[in-house]
Amino acid sequence: MTANDGKVVKLAVDEITALGTDVSVYQALYQRRMAWQFKDEAVPKVALERMLEAAVWAPNHRLTEPWRFFVVNAASPLRHTLGDQAYEVSMERRGDPRRAEASRKSILDAPVLIYIYCVPGTNDEVTQENYASVCCAAHNISLAGVAEGLAVTWETGGATRHPNLKVTLGAEEDWTLATLLSVGIPAESPASFRTPVTNFVYWHE
Ligand SMILES: Cc1cc2nc3c(=O)[nH]c(=O)nc-3n(C[C@H](O)[C@H](O)[C@H](O)COP(=O)(O)O)c2cc1C
Repeated sequence: MTANDGKVVKLAVDEITALGTDVSVYQALYQRRMAWQFKDEAVPKVALERMLEAAVWAPNHRLTEPWRFFVVNAASPLRHTLGDQAYEVSMERRGDPRRAEASRKSILDAPVLIYIYCVPGTNDEVTQENYASVCCAAHNISLAGVAEGLAVTWETGGATRHPNLKVTLGAEEDWTLATLLSVGIPAESPASFRTPVTNFVYWHE
C-alpha cells in the first residue's frame, strides 16, 4: 500500500490546472449514470488521479479534510479477500449461494474499486459535517468520471459490511465507510428517472 510520505502540501485553488473538457457542469450532472456492467478495459491511472484530485475540492466546513480513499486495482491481491468477504456477508444475510457468488463477482470484475472512508469529528456536529463533505467528495468523483468517459457506481450494501473490511484495507477502526465506488468504462446505458423537483420544493416568495 502506498500513500503520501507524511508531508502535507497545501494547494491554493489558483495552483490547480483543470482538465479542459467539452462536458459542461450541467451535462455531467444529467449524464452521470451508475452502471453495473463494465467493459473489460483498464481505467487510465491519470483519469483516476484527476478524479481523486477533484474529490478533495468538495466543500468542507472547517477544512477538516475528513476523506480517506483506498483504491484497489484489478490486479491487487486484495481483490480475492474483498470478494470472499462480499460472498460471506451475502451468505449470512440471504443464504443464497448464487446471489453470494454474484456479489463476489461484482467485486472481482469491477475495473477499479475505491473505498471511501470518513474520519470522525471532535463532536457529533463535526462528524455529521464531515460525512456530508465526504459524500460531496464521492459525488465529485462521479461527476469527473463523466468527463473521463467513466461510470462510477456507489455501493453501501453487503460488500461494504464485512467486519474485517477495515483491517483488510488498512482503515482505522473509528472511520466510517461512506461508500464503495466501482469505476470503469460502462458496458451499458442504464435508464433512470426522477420525480419532477416541483413536487419537493416549497418556495417562500
Ligand atoms: C448513498 C448511496 C448508496 C447506494 N448503494 C447502492 C447499493 O448498495 N447497491 C446498488 O445497487 N446501488 C446503490 N446505489 C446506487 C443507486 O441505487 C443509484 O443511484 C440509483 O440506481 C439511481 O441511479 P442513477 O444515480 O444513475 O440515476 C447507491 C447510491 C447512493 C447515493
